[in-house]
Amino acid sequence: MKHEVFEKNSLILLIAVLIVVSIGGIIEIAPLFWLKSTIEKVEGMRPYSPLELAGRDIYVREGCYNCHSQMIRSLRDEIERYGHYSLAAESMYDHPFQWGSKRTGPDLARVGGKYSDAWHVEHLRDPRSVVPTSIMPGYPFLEKTPLDYGNIAAKMKTMQEIGVPYTDEMIADAKTDILAQIKSDSSEAKALLKRYPKAQVRKFDGAQGDNLQPTELDAVVAYLQMLGTLVDFTKFDASGPNLR
Ligand code: HEC
Repeated sequence: MKHEVFEKNSLILLIAVLIVVSIGGIIEIAPLFWLKSTIEKVEGMRPYSPLELAGRDIYVREGCYNCHSQMIRSLRDEIERYGHYSLAAESMYDHPFQWGSKRTGPDLARVGGKYSDAWHVEHLRDPRSVVPTSIMPGYPFLEKTPLDYGNIAAKMKTMQEIGVPYTDEMIADAKTDILAQIKSDSSEAKALLKRYPKAQVRKFDGAQGDNLQPTELDAVVAYLQMLGTLVDFTKFDASGPNLR
């Protein structure tokens, strides 16, 4: 028998195994060096606006990811509960990504637009006031804490360096854009919308009056309200036409 030589000599068997496995490995891995990206670009995806980015940082700071995932798996029960399964492109500008594997609370990948701002404000202030059985902690300090956005341009610059397509103009206008996103009907808001299509512009925390300043709550609610809203799934076709 020809394979007797392998069966009787473990060293030869080992070398043969290594050769076979490395051929398989090269076939799997080599093409990745010639691909520009393994993430298909999808119409509608854009980097976070400065206010959304600031909200995302507070989300990470407060450890919301310990209880919430942001990835809808392609399983029937998930899709029926949360909506279209998450696309790789939807988290391509997330550093670090928020997919998560722990769901003490529901997945938040498509929570944008599910509730009103007022609901989020109440819920973050005191979750049990809107969901009596909730075990989520309250974050009542968010509405009382002015948003510290002194370093927003530096944050965006860092994102730019790791591949998020922020332009130098976006970075230069970061602070103006934070204020613009809480002032509807302003000319600054129009400029913001050109840079960040579909950005929602309003005072998210419900405060009223002139000359309002952004709070941490504005940033968190702006972030929650845009999650999963950028890709238009009535037009999306996973087989191709909407990919560019
Ligand atoms: C200890 C775990 C825990 C932490 C930490 C937590 N949550 Fe929750 N969250 C829950 C649970 C449980 C629910 C479901 C009950 C409810 O709606 O309150 C929930 C619900 C929600 C919902 C409503 C989701 C839906 O589809 O109904 C939002 C939005 C939300 N959380 C945001 C946040 C944000 C933002 C943070 C961080 C500032 C956070 N959560 C931190 C446990 C948590």
